Amino acid sequence: MASTVLVTGGTGYIGSHIAVALAAAGHVPVLLDDFSNSEHAVVDRVRELAGVAVTCVEGDVRDTALLRRVFHDHPVTAVIHCAGLKAVGESEARPLAYYDVNVNGSLRLAEVMGEAGVNRLVFSSSATVYGQPDVLPVDEQAALRPHSVYGRTKRQTEEFLRDLARANPNWHIAILRYFNPAGAHPSARIGEAPRGRPNNLVPLMCRIAAGEYPELSIHGSDWPTPDGTGIRDYIHVQDLAEGHVAALAWLAQHAGARTINLGLGRGYSVLEVIAAFEKACGRVLAKAFGPRRPGDVACYYADATRAEREMGWRATRALDAICADAWRWQQAGGRYR
Ligand code: NAD
Ligand code: UD1
Repeated sequence: MASTVLVTGGTGYIGSHIAVALAAAGHVPVLLDDFSNSEHAVVDRVRELAGVAVTCVEGDVRDTALLRRVFHDHPVTAVIHCAGLKAVGESEARPLAYYDVNVNGSLRLAEVMGEAGVNRLVFSSSATVYGQPDVLPVDEQAALRPHSVYGRTKRQTEEFLRDLARANPNWHIAILRYFNPAGAHPSARIGEAPRGRPNNLVPLMCRIAAGEYPELSIHGSDWPTPDGTGIRDYIHVQDLAEGHVAALAWLAQHAGARTINLGLGRGYSVLEVIAAFEKACGRVLAKAFGPRRPGDVACYYADATRAEREMGWRATRALDAICADAWRWQQAGGRYR
């Protein structure tokens, strides 16, 4: 059934794709964002792709008065909570900012949702909560050993959400652990637009192929993997967005808090990703092996079977589509301004 869904962080990379996917499924997205890591121009692009009126409220997810106003002004029945800080390196340097926005922001949101009687919540968690898993593929029961402050803010938020659902059976909460989201909307109207030099592999390759940076450093050639480079599970952002729509439908029928991996269910090494990207863009990237990046792990990829079994959803777009769509977005400018 169609519903009004609040998307916090709704003008960010993932939130903007979720908003478009929600509209495509007949829902009405309401975006909340403080634009600390996004551009105002995203809103018009989302409206254009959604083809419906999309309200965007500018403000901070920690601002309870603002949240109360949003729930008063809009008939919100569910929240997808993407707002947060996500740079691993920065989280080590600014731990309090990360705990405040990610953990405290989530607490404030849950508090106001409770007051407003809105009890369906989808939370953006990350596979980074696993650290280096003992067993692959990694399923939702694996131990949580995050290597960074960022990862620990996600773990803490997950924990308090599980406690909340245990204390009050009215809550319906999906904790979605994203593996490595990448790619862009196939229209190339929305995509990942990091400020400054990208940290993540796919957006960095886009900008190197476009001539903005000279060379890719491959972070380590001596990982215990078949080709010596790190292995990750890259999930197309469109698949990820559609996974949220599936989670909302599932939540309508299921109380409690459930944790679900969102990944493709297979891993690719850095060298495999580079090869796929070079094929997509028709260029050979300048690259060199460098040292391991601090905090990195060798290998992880999802056991993605719970999402399929319980929500009837699985990722369908493979690495080639990720690279083709990321490159199309880069060729369209790869930015909002
Ligand atoms: P993003 O930075 O593009 O989007 C986050 C949005 O939240 C931004 O638009 C930012 O302006 C907004 N925001 C930040 N602090 C806010 C605040 N206090 N109040 C209101 N808005 C605020 O990041 P993304 O890649 O779209 O990630 C979305 C969520 O998914 C984050 O919670 C992130 O931790 C999580 N996640 C992302 C990845 C990834 O690789 N991109 C992987 C796993 C999990
Ligand atoms: C990073 C974050 C993780 C977050 C995830 C979301 C770190 C340590 N981890 O994961 O918390 O959830 O993004 O996508 O930042 N690589 C290179 N050269 C580069 C960049 C990356 O070789 O210039 C390699 C990395 O070592 C890794 C792979 O490419 O093996 C993917 O890296 P990246 O895109 O940064 O994602 P993660 O490190 O998996």
